[in-house]
Amino acid sequence: MKKFLITANWKLNGSYNFINKNIDLIKKINDYLHFCHISLAPPYVYLNYINQFIKNTSISLTAQNVDIHLKGSFTGETSINMLKDIGVKYIIIGHSERRLYHNENINLIAKKFILIKEHGLIPILCIGETKEQKKYKLTEKICINQINSILKLSNNVNIFENTIIAYEPIWAIGSGKIANIDEVKNIIFFIRKYISSFNKKIIENIYFQYGGSVDYSNIDNFLNKTYINGFLIGKVSLKLKNFIFLVKKIEKNLNSNWS
Ligand code: PGA
Repeated sequence: MKKFLITANWKLNGSYNFINKNIDLIKKINDYLHFCHISLAPPYVYLNYINQFIKNTSISLTAQNVDIHLKGSFTGETSINMLKDIGVKYIIIGHSERRLYHNENINLIAKKFILIKEHGLIPILCIGETKEQKKYKLTEKICINQINSILKLSNNVNIFENTIIAYEPIWAIGSGKIANIDEVKNIIFFIRKYISSFNKKIIENIYFQYGGSVDYSNIDNFLNKTYINGFLIGKVSLKLKNFIFLVKKIEKNLNSNWS
């Protein structure tokens, strides 16, 4: 079984005060990690600060975004080399909030995906459908469009090797509603089959996360599923005590699967 990756997406939340108050809990997470790997995605400005506390632990850093340019006159942007410089390992791209509020389209997201791979970091590519698209049974089409835009730009399916695809139905994010596990399974299998049709070998090196209103009370729906290799967690990751409960539950489950 692959190691499980739980990504804590803080979005536009947090402060020095918040981090300082919670730093003992953040460091404590490491004590519980045997089968899981945790990656924290605070806003850019706190990445470096948090990094000093998580060095030599199984906790790593995820950035919530990256620019496609490497340097120059791009006010307000942060480059991949800067993120590498401060020890970032993963970068979330294609999150529905960036698509919606920052007009990021599939071409830009594809460029980011390829840039991240070329620079040796790991993209967490978020894909998923809106409520409306689900109603019209467009989930597969929407998700494959995203994959295709990357394939088209890179012209090489191997670009997906050692990457993470986070299936996040947009209607489930922050809504308290989770996706039906059979539907999650179907879409993950569909994507796996699609990528396998280009190259069977790489599919074992693609991780699939689920994201969208995951919490302690509903996590059981997603455990014991070999096709889910981790979670992308928003709201609960800001309540460190609750987040630890969640991590412990996942660890316990993975432990019983191993023994
Ligand atoms: P949520 O956010 O857990 O609050 O639904 C998930 C996400 O947006 O990645």
